[in-house]
Amino acid sequence: MGNILITGSSRGIGAATARVLAAKGHNLCINYNQSQPAADQLVKQVQQLGIKAIAVQADVSQEQQVMALFNAMDEQLGPLTGLVNNAGILLPQMPVEQMDAARINRLLTTNVTSYFLCCKEAIKRMAIKHGGRGGAIVNVSSAAARLGAAGEYVDYAASKGAIDTLTRGLSVEVASQGIRVNCVRPGFIDTKMHTDGGEPDRIERVKSAIPMGRGGTPEEVANAIAWLLSDEASYVTGSFTEIAGGR
Ligand code: NAI
Repeated sequence: MGNILITGSSRGIGAATARVLAAKGHNLCINYNQSQPAADQLVKQVQQLGIKAIAVQADVSQEQQVMALFNAMDEQLGPLTGLVNNAGILLPQMPVEQMDAARINRLLTTNVTSYFLCCKEAIKRMAIKHGGRGGAIVNVSSAAARLGAAGEYVDYAASKGAIDTLTRGLSVEVASQGIRVNCVRPGFIDTKMHTDGGEPDRIERVKSAIPMGRGGTPEEVANAIAWLLSDEASYVTGSFTEIAGGR
């Protein structure tokens, strides 16, 4: 079984992914930025499934911290086989005409630069030409990349558009190196992220516009991520999995 790093995984989709991967027997590096108690609790929970797990603090938008995160994983868990780029932020809803550069740059650094930096460190470890054995990367994008999030957070939607392009380009760039790169595009998933966007009940408001008539659960996203990481998806790269109830 593999050694998998999940960024921003102390709660939400990342934590659900940790539980699903642990149940499949993978060792895990749970990255968190601020929530050490939640990360430690999750580590204890997944260790009960008989796997090795560590919690490592790092702000993944910062290059030095990303390097330290991957080094900690090398030392404490062993060779990386999979990366889930999951960490992301949503800032309070506002139209583009009110956004300032500080907000836009914070959002792009957190949601886009971090994915690039983590992909870079993962490739250095997994690429055949660097002595690695290949592996898989799953980028958590969003249906917002398609929908645009007008009037809510176009900056966030654009950051996820960048992740789609990263996935497409990188999947081709590293295909010959034994590394598969895929993307999930969740839609309206019941996590605390919507509270950060200023509307805890957002899914309730929009659910009538979702063909399946409901929001999704973090576990429904986690199952798709786990499949994309697995050998069952051995010929799948550069793909986009919509997890948005038909929206
Ligand atoms: P969440 O807010 O529960 O999880 C995001 C995690 O990322 C948090 O634990 C946060 O602390 C962490 N994080 C933020 N900045 C970080 C940094 N600089 N370094 C390390 N960790 C950092 O939200 P959720 O919903 O679980 O989001 C996970 C991913 O799913 C995000 O990329 C999000 O954009 C994406 N997504 C979520 C959807 C939803 O409806 N909840 C829909 C589509 C995509």
